[in-house]
Amino acid sequence: MSYRGLSALSAARVHRAALASSLFAATLMLIFIPLEHAFPQTVEPMRIGIIGTGRIGGALARHWVNAGHEVLVSSRHPEELESLAAELGPRARVGTPREAAAFGQVVLVSVPYAATPQIGRDYANELNGKVVLDTGNPIERRDGAMAREALAKGVGNASAEFLPGTRLVRAFNCIPAESLADEANRVPERIAIPLAGDDAEALRVAERLVRDAGLDPVVVGGLDRASDFELGKPLASRLMTAEEMRQLLAARR
Ligand SMILES: NC(=O)c1ccc[n+]([C@@H]2O[C@H](COP(=O)([O-])OP(=O)(O)OC[C@H]3O[C@@H](n4cnc5c(N)ncnc54)[C@H](OP(=O)(O)O)[C@@H]3O)[C@@H](O)[C@H]2O)c1
Repeated sequence: MSYRGLSALSAARVHRAALASSLFAATLMLIFIPLEHAFPQTVEPMRIGIIGTGRIGGALARHWVNAGHEVLVSSRHPEELESLAAELGPRARVGTPREAAAFGQVVLVSVPYAATPQIGRDYANELNGKVVLDTGNPIERRDGAMAREALAKGVGNASAEFLPGTRLVRAFNCIPAESLADEANRVPERIAIPLAGDDAEALRVAERLVRDAGLDPVVVGGLDRASDFELGKPLASRLMTAEEMRQLLAARR
């Protein structure tokens, strides 16, 4: 064998040895380094204001803080959220709904649906031009006649009227609060979250925040398509994977 052949052979051996040792090092890292350090947190943290820190808003606040975002959890009685914020740590703070609307680059509105028009009116300046994620479901026995009207109009269209000037996305409205809290990053496959919105950039932000909450986004269409995943509709009838949701959507088209 020529010197050139020998040196190519030893170069290949060196290369294999280097590869094996980096694989070994990577395995060690995964074993010994806490997961949040091995897999870096969300690349660019966002400021998220949460209006309605109940079962849905509270669960999302926890997931987003864990993903590296800054959240402001709000209440009409902010003192009641101090212990939650302390538990969530330094990336969480407490305020009023108006402060949440002002703080967020993205604002989650997660309140009984009948409160949505008042939020749109009272915080119009703070919310103007912002990405707003709306989780609300109109439920007549809780929200009264306005729920029936919203359902007749289509929830996406009704919410757009209640929250004018926002870059609205319907999101997280059909996952039960318990699943949202306890089944993030479900294995082997994550739970799918259908999204509807008219603003492409807002949809991209929503998709990212769904992933950061340990779920899989599926964009269904514009706001007028939000009716496809109102409560009681097939898309909202059970927890499904993104693949199952896409198949169901394709079968309906
Ligand atoms: N629970 C579920 O499984 C589920 C699943 C998907 C979607 N949703 C929908 O998502 C929304 C939130 O559900 P949830 O179960 O999280 O409700 P929740 O636990 O009752 O929390 C709602 C929060 O809204 C706040 N709120 C009420 N009126 C307000 C107002 N006028 N201004 C500002 N904040 C107000 C309340 O905070 P303060 O009283 O402290 O201000 C309360 O913490 C509802 O529309 C619901 O239908 C619920």
